[in-house]
Amino acid sequence: CDTLPADRQEVLVATAKQLTHEGKGLLAADESTGTIGKRLEKSKLENTEEIRRDYRELFLTADICRSVSGVILYKETLAQSTAEGTPFVDALLANDILPGIKVDEGLTPLSEGSQETQTKGLENLEVNCEQYYGQGARFAKWRAALKIGQGMPSAKAIEVNSEQLAEYAAIAQRCGLVPIVEPELLIDGTHDILTTKRAAERTMQSCMAALWRRGVILEAVLLKPQMVVPGSSAPGPPPSTQDIAHHTLDVLYRSVPPAVAGIMFLSGGQSEREATENLNAINQMARHATGGKPCWHLSFSFGRAMQASVLQLWVEDRGRRIADVRARAQAMAARLASANGAAAQGTFTG
Ligand code: 13P
Repeated sequence: CDTLPADRQEVLVATAKQLTHEGKGLLAADESTGTIGKRLEKSKLENTEEIRRDYRELFLTADICRSVSGVILYKETLAQSTAEGTPFVDALLANDILPGIKVDEGLTPLSEGSQETQTKGLENLEVNCEQYYGQGARFAKWRAALKIGQGMPSAKAIEVNSEQLAEYAAIAQRCGLVPIVEPELLIDGTHDILTTKRAAERTMQSCMAALWRRGVILEAVLLKPQMVVPGSSAPGPPPSTQDIAHHTLDVLYRSVPPAVAGIMFLSGGQSEREATENLNAINQMARHATGGKPCWHLSFSFGRAMQASVLQLWVEDRGRRIADVRARAQAMAARLASANGAAAQGTFTG
């Protein structure tokens, strides 16, 4: 990709700059039909196309643009419109929010019988990316998922997933899409925070090396890692936000060149409050270290931590048909966005 013509490189870098605007982050609303269906069904709603569209409209027309620079969409949503007939892509662009697209096609075992996974979707990726660009997407996301514990993540899992992420990133940039590179270490397990930290360093260093080998333009890449936290079933008291910030920043300082445009953390099963407080602590600590702005934009690309309470309120709305509950759900979406926008500057006060 460093062989892309200079003008196309410039456009990609400008897109990355827009996505990493001070005090802004991303809303991850790209759950596949199966994943969003599980969340809807938990709330006793049917997983129909119209209910999914209606749920997505709630966020895509909420007042979030002061804190959200981009929304990652699922392919179905990219082609949908508001109830009034405005394409979602246009509704977002009218609010200065860039549409993004999940381009991977989910997980599959690393090899037959393996507990570890690789990600599907490279086969038709170039054609799909061209199509998504034509539909208005300007950035993309590919998620690799790695487990921790019992010898995992294995060297093989790290290597295969890093190579896939780098191949995807190169293809996305060739198609005019800024790639979000997401090597997620899953929170499930009893491991302690230092085990997560070691796995995160191995994984991030391998991903960066693979991106570099493929000539991916780092100034037009966003990374989407998990914060460094212990496993969700780890014994003992939970670490402080300071510990989480310290270990998370250590991993980044040791692994990621400052040329990378931004680090947009996933929430990965943390509560809304934990995710926001930890992001805030990361920004405060990084600003303290440099005496000014951190060397990367450190922000959010949250899914569950931006949606959980909103979904709850919205379900009330559909169940009881109370008109103003919808407005309350949208106000909740705006509040969560704004809290995370503050946390991305280290100014969240609770
Ligand atoms: P969570 O913030 O819910 O982890 O989701 C972010 C995401 O996009 C995972 O791929």
